[in-house]
Amino acid sequence: MEVVASAPAKVILLGEHFVVYGEPAIVLAIDKRAYAKVSRREDKKLHIRSANLNMAGYFEDGSFKIEQGEAKEARMKFDPVKNTIENILQKREERVGLNVEINSTVPVGAGLGSSAAVVAATAAATAELLEVKLTKEDIFRITCEAEKIVHGTPSGIDPAISTFGGTLLFQMDTGFKPLDSKTQIPLVVGDTGVERSTRIQVEKVRSLVDKYPRVAESIMKAGREVVLRAIEALKENDLETLGALMNINHALLYGIGVSDESLEWLTSAGRKAGALGAKLTGAGGGGCMIALTREEKIQPVLEAIQRAGGRAFLARKTDEGVRIESG
Ligand code: MEV
Repeated sequence: MEVVASAPAKVILLGEHFVVYGEPAIVLAIDKRAYAKVSRREDKKLHIRSANLNMAGYFEDGSFKIEQGEAKEARMKFDPVKNTIENILQKREERVGLNVEINSTVPVGAGLGSSAAVVAATAAATAELLEVKLTKEDIFRITCEAEKIVHGTPSGIDPAISTFGGTLLFQMDTGFKPLDSKTQIPLVVGDTGVERSTRIQVEKVRSLVDKYPRVAESIMKAGREVVLRAIEALKENDLETLGALMNINHALLYGIGVSDESLEWLTSAGRKAGALGAKLTGAGGGGCMIALTREEKIQPVLEAIQRAGGRAFLARKTDEGVRIESG
């Protein structure tokens, strides 16, 4: 028997980085998903294969053996998956061996929450296979723990959206609240192709905050106002205001040093081609940007971002969080 589960990628519409310091952020689940297929093995190994990363290896008695790809990198990518499975196995008496196959359409290291989507899907599939009862809250918590291995001090925004889906207003101390927005939010995503680490970007912001605390505090406060105004704009279906707020948010992120040349190229190409607003999304330093675009401008914006060197695609929001696909 095998179980397949999936979880969505995300885009942060507004508020990344500031969210780590307790400010609110708006995040959407998008129609790109990570899939995990889990089955039992005869032995006690935990075997992991990632089709899109071309990596495979197994954990046995505390050590890791590589079968495909570069050992150090594979270990880094697989550690959160292992941690998640051990977390679930702890709830059972018996030790079991498992095969985990990961298939994902989410670009990796690009700010779209690929690692959280993989972990949430793995947690759901493993629990279903082993008949361990997990609520969505449990999957969220387990995914948060795994994300700490990858990202250091994450806010929890990626695990929340991969688990629950939809559109969320997320804040660290108050948790998250679904934003029942009926507004279509057509977003062109542009991937710079520059892979980067969320942990390093978050640490970079931390040193800036330590060095210039009062300046940073004012920027964060402006970030909060942007999000609060955007909630109104979403209620009023006011895409023009939303676009303007995205531009302001990008400028604030530029100010804290997380944009880079590749992101500047793509955001300005998107705006020039008629996007209502454009900004980096996720941790920055490369990775992805998003452009808010009226339906009739989607094609020109997409092409302009591609001409500027990005891999562009249209993202639609999805309400579905983590789910069992088959098994
Ligand atoms: C990463 O998707 C978003 C950041 O705000 C980090 C976090 O919230 O954990 C940069």
